[in-house]
Amino acid sequence: MTLNIALVAGARPNFMKIAPICEVLKNKSDIEYKVVHTGQHYDENMSKVFFDQLGIPKPDVNLNVGSESHAVQTAKIMMGFEKFLVENKQDIVVVVGDVNSTLACSLVATKLHIPVAHVEAGLRSFNWNMPEEVNRVLTDRISDYLFTSCEDANENLIKEGFSQDKIYFVGNVMIDTLMKFKAFSDKSDVLDVLGLKTKDYAVLTMHRPSNVDSFENLSKLIDALKVVQDKIPIIYPVHPRTKKRILDFGFSETLDEMKNFKIVEPLGYVDFLHLMDNARFVVTDSGGIQEETTILKIPCLTIRNETERPVTITKGTNVMVGTDKQKIIQEASNILNNNQKTGKTPVKWDGKAASRIVEILLKEKNI
Ligand code: UD1
Repeated sequence: MTLNIALVAGARPNFMKIAPICEVLKNKSDIEYKVVHTGQHYDENMSKVFFDQLGIPKPDVNLNVGSESHAVQTAKIMMGFEKFLVENKQDIVVVVGDVNSTLACSLVATKLHIPVAHVEAGLRSFNWNMPEEVNRVLTDRISDYLFTSCEDANENLIKEGFSQDKIYFVGNVMIDTLMKFKAFSDKSDVLDVLGLKTKDYAVLTMHRPSNVDSFENLSKLIDALKVVQDKIPIIYPVHPRTKKRILDFGFSETLDEMKNFKIVEPLGYVDFLHLMDNARFVVTDSGGIQEETTILKIPCLTIRNETERPVTITKGTNVMVGTDKQKIIQEASNILNNNQKTGKTPVKWDGKAASRIVEILLKEKNI
């Protein structure tokens, strides 16, 4: 018997999560899998570069949905994915993370009575204003296999009434990818290209709607970064959403005047990993980067008020700083004065999460 699996990815943070699963599936003769790219992210440096660098097979289908409002984007993904599933019978649909593509495809699959496996289930920020929180909660609700990356995710699911036998604590697939590519990324020349010295710069990533779509919050963050860049150069691979907002809100001139603040285009996986690994610290509102810095043992200041990944605070190197100017400046100074968190590795962040997932799916399907 052959097990047919569709693996869905749509936006940048999905690609490093499907890569290790593809790698394991590739070597299983009793599984046939198809990679579905929804096209939520489409720029070469937001999508193709990750497929090339991480060795993800070319998508079997690209739904090419592009950027739209949430409703239009979600609806377009659903229409395209339904057509795909009707024409290509699948036994399981695997979705990862918390983006619109994750929810859209799980909804389609479940209505066609195809079991859904959600990788990175159970994370909760408890902030219902985040589109990702809506996507997470609803995807979990309709999933048949809840693959969790940390113990707090298991607890969240149990509290929400999920039965224990649907929950599988497998570890963190994103860390599988990091471990696989770490040695390769050590050879990246990105520091030379950007004129940076090891441990003598900070990295910034910033793209959450709550931070960058609000003039007030973006302005507060820029104010704080202005002070920090006086103490240490900041490198910022800019997200397309933020690039637009900087122009719309008229912040370009202020940023130009910040001589130690350097904006560059989004980087590929290998260069970005090297950039993080050699930074003095990272400032971010990303979810995945909170986890990656924990494994790399690089201090991380998270410019949000809560995190769906609390293990990065309790065990890792993460500190919540919100959009509070004084707190951001204070925590950056602490690190520059060598007063920083070192952190421990969370349980099962060991590079084997994807293997565990595939073994469970095979066993459940009696293969
Ligand atoms: C999406 C995810 C978010 C994730 C982020 C990572 C949702 C609701 N949000 O947010 O969870 O952290 O991806 O990057 O799914 N754009 C381009 N080129 C691209 C893609 C987007 O220029 O390849 C621009 C478009 O102007 C678009 C904007 O970026 O309108 C935002 O893209 P979108 O996919 O809607 O949301 P993200 O902010 O990227």
